[in-house]
Amino acid sequence: MIRALVTGGSGGIGAAVCRRLAADGRHVYVHANSRFARAESLAAEIVANGGSAAAVAFDVADRDRTQAALRKLLGDGPIQIAVNNAGIHDDAVMPGMRPEQWSRVIDVSLNGFFNVTQPLLMPMIGTRWGRIINLSSVAALAGNRGQTNYAAAKAGLHGATKALALEVASRGITVNAVAPGIIDSAMTEGVFAKEAIEKFVPMKRAGTPQEVADLIGFLASEQAAYISGQIISINGAMI
Ligand SMILES: NC(=O)c1ccc[n+]([C@@H]2O[C@H](COP(=O)([O-])OP(=O)(O)OC[C@H]3O[C@@H](n4cnc5c(N)ncnc54)[C@H](OP(=O)(O)O)[C@@H]3O)[C@@H](O)[C@H]2O)c1
Repeated sequence: MIRALVTGGSGGIGAAVCRRLAADGRHVYVHANSRFARAESLAAEIVANGGSAAAVAFDVADRDRTQAALRKLLGDGPIQIAVNNAGIHDDAVMPGMRPEQWSRVIDVSLNGFFNVTQPLLMPMIGTRWGRIINLSSVAALAGNRGQTNYAAAKAGLHGATKALALEVASRGITVNAVAPGIIDSAMTEGVFAKEAIEKFVPMKRAGTPQEVADLIGFLASEQAAYISGQIISINGAMI
């Protein structure tokens, strides 16, 4: 059974991705940072529904802990699907942005991508099959006031996605980024009023975690073998 790691599986989009990959017959590592209990209960739910899952927790910004946790998982075999979904935002217009706000957002989204993905690569390459999917954002494509840190971190993932796609293309591994617009989740709760969504989103609604998970499920499937190095938007026609 192909094993998948979904970072931030304790969050809104991550949980939907875990359920989708489990429904597609993958063994899913539901990852959390602070909310391990949520990852545990989602893994239990997946198993109760006939799927295969386990919960893991570590801070993706902590290189040593991430490496130690992944070494343990890799002891049981390669992880061939990596969904780099863990992310935070900590917004402030740039003149008032504290250095810690800049660094932490980059550490989680961009350095976290490196910390998680790099140890998985050699075992994945050995199998000649893999899928790496990085969660970006419309903010990296269009910019967003108050999010220079977040936009920079996510745009950094675009370059990394394209470069890594080239490196592993001949090994049956695809690397793509998914750039959602406004999706209903804890991250956007209270951030966008209904009127703002109607103004910014031509489809006049937020997307659902399930819609993002279905795109990621497809990118992680056999059928998506020839899609790589792409930044794929899912945003209700925002841009
Ligand atoms: N929601 C949107 O509208 C939207 C739009 C564009 C892009 N995105 C991107 O989609 C991804 C998922 O977003 P979401 O809306 O599902 O957010 P969410 O519900 O807030 O979930 C965020 C997840 O990231 C994990 N996380 C945060 N810091 C971490 C760290 N240092 N180490 C490991 N895990 C960490 C959290 O784990 P714990 O809770 O266990 O700490 C949580 O599972 C993010 O990368 C986000 O930037 C979201």
